[in-house]
Amino acid sequence: MDLSSLRKIADEFNSELDLALAGEKSSLRILPSFLSAPTGQEMGHYIAIDFGGSNLRVMLVVLKGQGGYEIIKQIARPLKDPQGRYDYTTDNTSGQEVFGFAADLIAEVVRGVSPDQLGLTFSYPMQQNSICSASLIRWTKELKPRQTVGRDIGKMLGEALIKKRIDIEPVAIINDTVAVFLAGCYYDSSVCAGSICGTGYNVCLLEPSRRTAADQAMIVNTEAGNFSMLPGNLYDRSLDQATDDPGQQKMEKMVSGKYLGELLRITLRDMGEKGLLPGYTPSLTIWNQPFTLPTEVLGWLQTEGSRERQMLNNWMEVNGFDNKLENLTLLKLIGSAILERAMKLIASTYIAILRRPGQINNKRQVIAVDGALFKHLPEFLAGVESILRSELPDRSVSLLYTADGSNIGAAVAAALAEDSIETDARSLASDSTPEGPQFII
Ligand code: BGC
Repeated sequence: MDLSSLRKIADEFNSELDLALAGEKSSLRILPSFLSAPTGQEMGHYIAIDFGGSNLRVMLVVLKGQGGYEIIKQIARPLKDPQGRYDYTTDNTSGQEVFGFAADLIAEVVRGVSPDQLGLTFSYPMQQNSICSASLIRWTKELKPRQTVGRDIGKMLGEALIKKRIDIEPVAIINDTVAVFLAGCYYDSSVCAGSICGTGYNVCLLEPSRRTAADQAMIVNTEAGNFSMLPGNLYDRSLDQATDDPGQQKMEKMVSGKYLGELLRITLRDMGEKGLLPGYTPSLTIWNQPFTLPTEVLGWLQTEGSRERQMLNNWMEVNGFDNKLENLTLLKLIGSAILERAMKLIASTYIAILRRPGQINNKRQVIAVDGALFKHLPEFLAGVESILRSELPDRSVSLLYTADGSNIGAAVAAALAEDSIETDARSLASDSTPEGPQFII
């Protein structure tokens, strides 16, 4: 992918955003969050849930103001047990069961403490009706529990909590990009967008033309993983056909952790079939079953560390590659081609956002990021950042890695929701006429 395609993709992304803002047909969305940037002074004890990747994580977080926080307690469980005892990712489970599982984890964290509020980060496309009510548009990342699409996520979690007699209800539901925005901006007020590149991919931004109840610019979720104006190749098409949602999430399938390992697998299999991969053994499971090459392998290929080298050697041995330098060099080349394309695609969407009219005047432009690719792949964050800097040389642009962004952001959202309830109550009180009859319902 050369620079001219990168620039073309940035322009297309911008046009798709404009269409979405105008309410016209687009592969992107402008989903409201009803929230604006935090001040950094939010404080209190919050239960913060991150439901979105392969693990469900529940934390008790204390927000201390001035961008500070402390994680007091935390628990994480995979949605799919590696030992096969349960699996909440398939259509054999219902929404009720999945949220029941979440409520069990919340019960463990809540025991013995009295948090102020609960915030939920739910990392799928949702149509938000208010800060605490949002209905699921569709699943992504190959998840498919039944009786969920079109339903109110806050209500489903609320009902599960009541059923388990847990005395707390969600006051804020947010997308994980909104969470990483809030967590990043809690610490650095120059944050103007939030992005995740983990199991899935997405970006949100502060959009001046959308206003909150307090008349501030609203954070909106673009569902950038579904961006479709992209030049996919033979391998992208073959991957897409083998997924649960062919034709959807085109961008996500080219850049995110759920799919990069699969792209490597498909590419290597094709080379094997063409006689270009020494040691290729067609009967091995890896060449016959989708999603059997973990994206982690791309990280091992990028690292010189002895632990990673050991993991890579074991993986190569199990999968029929003889550990010759020639083989290793080939794998590294293909691995870096896949990663480099992902970095350029991601950078092009960020460039589009940083150049938007509502963002352009900011002196410093910071994008808060989180997710396994930024966290675990050496050079990924720096690689994307360096493309941004060379394409936008006249600006001060940086990426802020926001650890635990999904949970900390859920806590900040719960604090903001609490404030907005208080503001509503105050404005109701000041709106009411002291003279005349008062009706109490
Ligand atoms: C979802 C987004 C989410 C992203 C990152 C995508 O599959 O559609 O809502 O933000 O993954 O988790």
